[in-house]
Amino acid sequence: MPKIELLKGDITKLQVDAIVNAANSSLMGGGGVDGAIHRAAGPELLEECKKIIARIGSCPPGNAVITGAGKLECKYVIHSVGPIWRGGFYNESQLLRQAYLNSLKLAMDYQIKTIAFPNISTGAYGFPKELASDIAISAVEEFLKENPEIEKVIFVCFDEENYQIYKKKLSNV
Ligand code: APR
Repeated sequence: MPKIELLKGDITKLQVDAIVNAANSSLMGGGGVDGAIHRAAGPELLEECKKIIARIGSCPPGNAVITGAGKLECKYVIHSVGPIWRGGFYNESQLLRQAYLNSLKLAMDYQIKTIAFPNISTGAYGFPKELASDIAISAVEEFLKENPEIEKVIFVCFDEENYQIYKKKLSNV
């Protein structure tokens, strides 16, 4: 059974153990998938994020934190902060890779078996979609090889462009 799946649609509708949010370092919500997740989860999600920020100050790019899921169907939300694309000379690729890996490490810590990712950093943060998909797929594939406890990772594409890119690449998986 393939461990990596591809879906086109809204990540807030998924009944998986955890969905990943493409957050910013303040964890105070925003637009895009961050806005959609906070709207669907309700105000308690922001309350949980505020408590985390009170403890850690901010969540730097490449890092992730975990909260409950409020009114969402899933059990957890992993808030992962991707890098802002600045041309590729500021370690953006490594930071995006870390955003995926640190999200998966949190999933292991919480015995999460099914997890869904949006296309982190490819919206407002302007990361080139082709490059981001290569980084995301290779990070997830490498992590799953070492950590078979995770049963399924779903890449959720909201926009058609990302969906076509992932469809092409995952058809060879
Ligand atoms: N479900 C799944 N994916 C979604 C959804 C959704 N409901 N809404 C948007 N997306 C997709 C976008 O199509 C894009 O491919 O999420 C991807 C990431 O785009 P953004 O949400 O803009 O995230 P990012 O590029 O990482 O920028 C993060 O934007 O929303 C703010 O607070 C956020 O400051 C942070 C920044």
